[in-house]
Amino acid sequence: MFERIKDDINSVYSRDPAARNFWDVLITYPGLHAIWIYRSSHFLWKKQWLSLAKIISTFARFLTGVEIHPGATIGDRFFIDHGHGVVIGETAEIGNDVTLYHGVTLGGTSWSIGKRHPTLCDNVVVGAGAKILGPITIAKNARVGSNAVVVRNVGESTTVIGIPARIVSRQQSDKFDAYSAQSTERDPVRNALDLIVEHIRDVDEKIIKLADCVADEKVKDCCKDSPPLNLDVLHDVLGSLDELEPQKPSEQSTA
Ligand SMILES: CC(C)(COP(=O)(O)OP(=O)(O)OC[C@H]1O[C@@H](n2cnc3c(N)ncnc32)[C@H](O)[C@@H]1OP(=O)(O)O)[C@@H](O)C(=O)NCCC(=O)NCCS
Repeated sequence: MFERIKDDINSVYSRDPAARNFWDVLITYPGLHAIWIYRSSHFLWKKQWLSLAKIISTFARFLTGVEIHPGATIGDRFFIDHGHGVVIGETAEIGNDVTLYHGVTLGGTSWSIGKRHPTLCDNVVVGAGAKILGPITIAKNARVGSNAVVVRNVGESTTVIGIPARIVSRQQSDKFDAYSAQSTERDPVRNALDLIVEHIRDVDEKIIKLADCVADEKVKDCCKDSPPLNLDVLHDVLGSLDELEPQKPSEQSTA
């Protein structure tokens, strides 16, 4: 049991950059507390101690703001970040290494007894506030954008967003990334534009200071506190743009 708890805590480090140390995670992550309490209520549920299981899960909801039905099936290293407002229905099935953010619902759309909640396969990430409804399957490595409402199956390594959810991208790697499938490499043109804007702001700032100093007749001390303008980086970035392949007319946006 302690190995499993250690495993849970360690898995938080790889998924939350805000996690500071073992004790911090142990004490201040309600999502983890909810999962630990769920495991005991699930154990009792399987032993047919249904009412006691429900009472324990109600206590967990009161304590953490996370409602996990004791009948749900959940794999290893499940992580609920922030916690509040998460609802996981009775027949939901969750694989290993799944991550949910706050406000996620794994809900049903019918009153029928039997499988009526979603199945999330390994490595799925569900963004804050998303609702996944009905006995659908979110295949492994898929990501659901925050606030999406998903009512149909989602394929492997696919990202869906919106209401009703639609595909925005298919990912190549199964590396955990809640936020974006894009690499951290920036668009060089955008990078250059950002630098130009930043440079213009610095120049503006200097001109304003200069004007104040001229007005106060303190020209000698002017701008001595502000850093020198860094033109080298700007020139390098603008120079590298010349080496970019020009886009063919057919590839250019028609918008
Ligand atoms: C969906 C998500 C994983 C990004 O996927 P991605 O494939 O990298 O998508 P991009 O960032 O390239 O965005 C693609 C398009 O979808 C839009 N988009 C991204 N996320 C969206 C969302 N949740 N809802 C609606 N539209 C969204 C973008 O604006 C972009 O639109 P455009 O093509 O018109 O410019 C990410 O936006 C997301 O929602 N992550 C969840 C994060 C979260 O809940 N964090 C909580 C931390 S407390």
